[in-house]
Amino acid sequence: MKKVSIIGQGYVGLTISAFAAEFYEVLGIDNNQDVVNQLNTGVSHIEGVQSSVLKNWIKSGKFRATNDATEIDGSDIVVIAVPTPLTKDRQPDLTYIAAACKTIGVNLKNPALIINESTSFPGTIRNYIKPAIESFSTGTIQHLYAISPERVDPGRGDFNQKNTPRLYAGLTPEASAKTRDFYSKFCDHLVAVSSPEVAEAAKLFENTFRQVNIALVNEFAQITNALGISVHETLNAASTKPYGFMKFTPSAGVGGHCIPVDPSYLAAAADQCGVPATFIRRANEVNLEMSKYVVDRVEADNGGSLKGKSVLVVGVAYKPNVADVRETAAELVIEHLKARGAVVAWHDDVVGFWHEEKSSVLGGADIAIVTTKHDAVDAKAIMASASYVFDTTGKLPQAHGL
Ligand SMILES: NC(=O)c1ccc[n+]([C@@H]2O[C@H](COP(=O)([O-])OP(=O)(O)OC[C@H]3O[C@@H](n4cnc5c(N)ncnc54)[C@H](O)[C@@H]3O)[C@@H](O)[C@H]2O)c1
Repeated sequence: MKKVSIIGQGYVGLTISAFAAEFYEVLGIDNNQDVVNQLNTGVSHIEGVQSSVLKNWIKSGKFRATNDATEIDGSDIVVIAVPTPLTKDRQPDLTYIAAACKTIGVNLKNPALIINESTSFPGTIRNYIKPAIESFSTGTIQHLYAISPERVDPGRGDFNQKNTPRLYAGLTPEASAKTRDFYSKFCDHLVAVSSPEVAEAAKLFENTFRQVNIALVNEFAQITNALGISVHETLNAASTKPYGFMKFTPSAGVGGHCIPVDPSYLAAAADQCGVPATFIRRANEVNLEMSKYVVDRVEADNGGSLKGKSVLVVGVAYKPNVADVRETAAELVIEHLKARGAVVAWHDDVVGFWHEEKSSVLGGADIAIVTTKHDAVDAKAIMASASYVFDTTGKLPQAHGL
């Protein structure tokens, strides 16, 4: 049976591991010892990967996690699934990819297929990953290289690895064919594109499309409010058009590891070729500014000052029904509230602990601002949690809000 090593056992890497283990011997490599220990006891830390599934693969010897990079040797296929964040000045940060390349280059002594699933700018597999791995390899090992961008949407029930079409392209026809063979075991719709750069750019454009449309609807929410009409009623009205319109909803901003980050990878690529990515950058600004707009609205509704008022931020995960707080808009909302002298607490029992604080009880505040509404949180309990409730999610029609 082929050995597949997956570097990074987070949202993407563990999801692939869980699907691939049905057909391959999977080694999950992660440099976080806590993650490794937890996975080896069969406990999943990712929504969408059931612990029972993990336990099953461990029991049958199909899955194991390790932080020992030398164990990668002997792999037939290596998948890179490590973070690709931004630096402080919002430039692509490939340090995790560089570390994964070192792991491969130093420890993998046999030729293998290397697939990148981490999101990055066009040219990453050709001009960055391949040379980086080769710079660490001794001898003349000829690996095959391919890209297959991940489209997993954690917490989503209707689309998963099996039924979500997957793009792929190798640096050579052999790499493309072997990549197709690998994924075809657990993915029904494989879409070949003519070069890795097309696949890399398509992934960035998918998320930039969302970023820009969310910014547009966030700006529209401000316009409708100024006009004195409901943004949600107006969007529902527009949605009756059966073609040429796709509904996006306003929010306190965008979060997660993808939408706030990936467009900046595209903007950086545009910079490299001398194209000003003004539209992408402005969308990012509009979304980042939404947290201030929300706090401005709440302040205006509450006598023009938030000083000394107790404010409960309800839902700090970046989206409903997941515990992921990366880049969450709630963070910026809290910063603005604190800067205006509010006494801020947060409630989110799905997240539980955040910034070394436990989720506060839902209730007893002067003001509640709903940034994310999990299905499990009772709408009536939110409405009763404060004398003034501002909803940014559109799910609490009785509240003030966007
Ligand atoms: N989360 C999503 O929904 C999603 C969707 C599509 C694409 N992506 C992309 O996939 C990539 C991974 O994202 P994620 O959400 O899975 O990240 P994550 O933070 O959930 O997981 C990454 C894991 O990699 C480990 N890691 C980091 N450096 C390592 C190294 N050198 N060696 C071994 N392990 C290492 C970390 O400990 C962590 O457990 C990113 O490029 C992201 O943009 C994410």
